[in-house]
Amino acid sequence: MLRQALAYIEEHQARFVQELLEFLSIPSVSAQPEHARDVHMAAFWLAEQLRHIGLRSEVLRTGGHPLVYAEWRGQDLHAPTVLIYGHYDVQPPEPMEQWHTPPFAPELREGYIYARGASDNKGQHFAHVKAVEALLRTQGTLPVNIKFLIEGEEEIGSPSLGAFIAANADLLRCDCVLISDSAMRAPDQPTLVYGLRGLISMEVTVRCLERDVHSGHYGGLVQNPIFVLAQMLAQVKDAEGRVRIPGFYEDVRVLDDEERAALARVPYTEADLMRETGARCAFGEPEFSLVERRGARPTFEVNGIWGGYTGPGTKTVIPAEAHAKITCRLVPYQDPHKVAQRVAEYLRSITPPGATLEVRVHEGGSPAVLLERDHPAVRAAVRAATDTYHAEPIFELEGGSIPVVAHFRDQLRAPVVLLGFGLPDDNIHAPNERFSLQAYQRGIEASARFLLEMSACCAGRGA
Ligand code: BES
Ligand code: MN
Repeated sequence: MLRQALAYIEEHQARFVQELLEFLSIPSVSAQPEHARDVHMAAFWLAEQLRHIGLRSEVLRTGGHPLVYAEWRGQDLHAPTVLIYGHYDVQPPEPMEQWHTPPFAPELREGYIYARGASDNKGQHFAHVKAVEALLRTQGTLPVNIKFLIEGEEEIGSPSLGAFIAANADLLRCDCVLISDSAMRAPDQPTLVYGLRGLISMEVTVRCLERDVHSGHYGGLVQNPIFVLAQMLAQVKDAEGRVRIPGFYEDVRVLDDEERAALARVPYTEADLMRETGARCAFGEPEFSLVERRGARPTFEVNGIWGGYTGPGTKTVIPAEAHAKITCRLVPYQDPHKVAQRVAEYLRSITPPGATLEVRVHEGGSPAVLLERDHPAVRAAVRAATDTYHAEPIFELEGGSIPVVAHFRDQLRAPVVLLGFGLPDDNIHAPNERFSLQAYQRGIEASARFLLEMSACCAGRGA
């Protein structure tokens, strides 16, 4: 069964690449309202692909961008059901001038596909679509029941999906959830992610004046809100990057010696970090390793800061207000709302007289998740990955977030397997995002192997 599927994958690889290029040419940027129609088009394009390979497939409305849902059910009442999740929306491509080729004119170069969304996440979930195609075309059947749930709002925090899952728990019932939306440590080092950080996001505004004023007439006489905001933010961390907000680290999960030792074996050095990012050196809590900081420590980051005049030339003005976008990555046991409240209280406590502070906490904060490492579905993934990459997977904590995972775990009560096909230098969320052709092909193979392993190891609980 496997041999024929692998031969099919090999034989049809060129077409699989062409189809992915077509998918990538649709600019499904979920954050930008002017792309709403493109987001729709991507959903319909993907639903049509799933129908074409033989699944029952539909585009479902939500309050926001639509969901693509597709399924295939066999006769075998005891076959397990695998729910494959992914997202067809992509991050905004800006800054445009830094792309070597346009973000939505996908190009093949030196073994990579360059396009926004190539790795995060179109290429990765489309690999599963192609694996299902290979199995169906060569066997006329699948070893497991399959459900695809591919959303269009992941990059904006999945605001509609929690409610959808709660209302459709029956439709989505499964024996495991499989997600490929993360990275491998290296092309030959399969990586199973057993924890993701959570996220809360907020916007702060500092006001000192009722209107912008002349900086000559009033300079030296009134407070400048940009300066006030900068001074406030500068107090949030100490010189080595520890967050000074009282209680910020209060509920943080403490790693035991065994887990610290296991994470110490994850191959990741300061040199890797510098190569991937262009940073001159690492920065952050010195008492934790890089791998621990990424997976097990919360952060306070400023993602954007603005105010006053930023156009060409000079404008001699003292602006009335200044703004910043702030996000905190969260780790297990931290409560997103409690952290947001702590941050807001602290900023309020250091707001100087003469300035007012407004803090808007965005809805839809998500908690961190910690996943099972010893479940038959995880062991099936270990075997599939080992056979595909000829190396045993490592288990790693990831620093990024996939907000919906907490909903899958809590509402479907199914184990979640995070087996990523991306690579650390795929430039996700950045200019020149790319996906390796080899990673794509091996991802398809790993997916086919996983579905076969699942049928061998797990009895279904009824889909
Ligand atoms: N695929 C990423 C998550 C990820 C990033 C996993 C890096 C592994 C390594 C996902 O698409 C993503 O970017 N999530 C956002 C969620 C946010 C917008 C709520 C994130 O982490 O910033
Ligand atoms: Mn992303």
